[in-house]
Amino acid sequence: MISKRVMKIIPSVTLAQSEKIANLKKQGIEVIGFNVGEPDFNTPVNIIKKAEEAYQLGYTKYTPAAGMLELREEVCKKFKNDYGLDYSVRNVIVSAGAKQSLINALMAIVNPGQEVIVPVPCWNSYIEMIKLTGATPVLVNMDERNGFDLDVEKISAHVTEKTVAILINSPNNPTGAVYKKEYMEKLGNLAVEKNFYIISDEIYEKLVYDGNINCCMAALSKEIKDKTITINGVSKSYAMTGWRIGFAVGPVDVIKGMSDYQGHTTTSPNAPAQYASIEALANTEEFVESMRKEFAIRRKYIVERLNAMEGITCSIPKGAFYVMPNINSFYGKKYKNYVIKNSMDMSDYLLEECRIAVVAGEAFVAPDNLRLSYSNSLENIKEGMDRMETALRKLK
Ligand SMILES: Cc1ncc(COP(=O)(O)O)c(C=O)c1O
Repeated sequence: MISKRVMKIIPSVTLAQSEKIANLKKQGIEVIGFNVGEPDFNTPVNIIKKAEEAYQLGYTKYTPAAGMLELREEVCKKFKNDYGLDYSVRNVIVSAGAKQSLINALMAIVNPGQEVIVPVPCWNSYIEMIKLTGATPVLVNMDERNGFDLDVEKISAHVTEKTVAILINSPNNPTGAVYKKEYMEKLGNLAVEKNFYIISDEIYEKLVYDGNINCCMAALSKEIKDKTITINGVSKSYAMTGWRIGFAVGPVDVIKGMSDYQGHTTTSPNAPAQYASIEALANTEEFVESMRKEFAIRRKYIVERLNAMEGITCSIPKGAFYVMPNINSFYGKKYKNYVIKNSMDMSDYLLEECRIAVVAGEAFVAPDNLRLSYSNSLENIKEGMDRMETALRKLK
């Protein structure tokens, strides 16, 4: 018998889809992937060289539970340079990916029976992680007409005496929203007033377009900083998803709790990857900018193509590398033996009819939408959009 805790986990929708795609590929059928959640760029060579150096220099042993001192110092420098924030190494923990920092943070501040607010659509792992702590995720719908930006009044109506934290993500996966500073400020002040934590996942901070900039929650005021745990890492900004290095900064007692928890569950993150991540943070801005520019071109193209398809509306995302077209005008339509009742049916239809992989919005509490990642070459995006347009036209 497996535990009740684990039985409650809803497996990732994308996993079942990955299996279908793998089967198609096995049969030699080529699928264009709009489902991936990682940059299609290679990790820059300067970072790889540092990893090689790490092995040669003997960085092959455990590190402190909270991460290598030199990397934590580099994280402090990053927050100082980017946002003017003063942190010491006691405010920093390095983890096996931002994902581990997130679960560490939840485990450090949440008690069973409490509530964690999550604006939705949201990244699917948040909900399952909160459930694992024994707390209740309180999902609050953000408005598509407002670009899924933060609606603090709506959030405020869901704050109770059980609220221990809110988990936000800007730039957002899956919506691409980059929250406006004034809304972030309002939310920060609400957290101070009502005494709950903000876990601010800023992993896509560098991928912002059209002059938008990431508003770092902790930089808004001293009081807000004291209530904020910022989650970040090297995965998305430096095309390092497989290296598994993330980090969090926050109040000393929370970081200590996270570190104690991590010490017993992981010991420490991978040592050579930590060594190489120092280089990523210190010397890779040129790469980030060239990747961002390439994403900006693809984003513009894909949004134009989607909006030109009859029955689709798609707002222009301000950040990350995802678009969320609304497809509910197709619900009830048919072609051959396909009946589109929801976004799962639509993603199955697109995979089977025209061999493109997209993620159903249901996975992100966005039942009227699909999520498409534009982390693919412009050539593939063009071919995929041609296929999608043709397949959608067949639905009557
Ligand atoms: C919003 C968000 N946070 C965190 C992560 C996880 O990052 P990492 O690969 O560093 O664990 C992802 C990955 O898709 C993400 O989309």
